[in-house]
Amino acid sequence: MNYKELIPKLNKQKLPQHIAIIMDGNGRWADQHKKRRIEGHRAGVKAVRRIVETAVEIELAYLTVYAFSTENWRRSKNEVSYLLKLIMDSLIKEIDELNKNNVNIRFIGSKKELSKKYNKKVIETCKKSWNNNGLHLNVAMNYGGRRELLDAIQEIVADSKSGKLLEAEINENKVNEYLYTAGMPDPDLVIRTSGEERLSNFLIWQSAYSEFWFTKTLWPDFSRRDFIKAILDYQKRKRRYGARK
Ligand code: IPE
Ligand code: IPE
Ligand code: MG
Repeated sequence: MNYKELIPKLNKQKLPQHIAIIMDGNGRWADQHKKRRIEGHRAGVKAVRRIVETAVEIELAYLTVYAFSTENWRRSKNEVSYLLKLIMDSLIKEIDELNKNNVNIRFIGSKKELSKKYNKKVIETCKKSWNNNGLHLNVAMNYGGRRELLDAIQEIVADSKSGKLLEAEINENKVNEYLYTAGMPDPDLVIRTSGEERLSNFLIWQSAYSEFWFTKTLWPDFSRRDFIKAILDYQKRKRRYGARK
């Protein structure tokens, strides 16, 4: 069955509000095809395009894709600079098409290790989409869950010291307001490709009650059909949140 035939099987009432994806396996895909790692990343961008289009088609509200982690700086200088450039070039190349599709795009993550020029260009480009009210697409760029919590804690302490925030006001909802994902629903479904079954520092606070879906498929091979299948599987699950039923 192709993905077009699978779409009507989705229960529109039970669509996840937010899907987050750990796009893993570009390097192994390149190895398999006897290509250089950077070609794996290029093929990975094509897969992002496909999945964003499908998310728009099914009217998903939020999609977060993990593009570059705070730990990915440990890779070779060549790979890191290629990835930074590829992510920027893809954003610039795709912004008009994203706009046409009513997608609202933003980058979430730490600005710290990225240059001023880079951060400025990201905001400038994303801004063009901020009046759109279709899919909210988050690109997790220089993102780390621990870094996000650390940033939040530092801001909370600063606001508490200045009197802007009272100690009694600090609860889970308040912490949410200090995260990069402020105002967004938690991910209902987290997908990871390539056979690894770990979070790798992705949305560690927000995924406390997420459902997980793992596949051995490498990210560049991840199809529209795989995406719909993950959602169909999610729709069969019973979420209990610690309650009896
Ligand atoms: C995911 O693919 C992309 C990024 C982490 C940027 P990898 O580059 O991690 O691919 P593998 O895990 O080496 O196959
Ligand atoms: C996670 O993949 C980060 C991204 C997909 C951007 P990695 O390939 O960096 O994760 P590990 O090192 O296998 O945990
Ligand atoms: Mg990897």
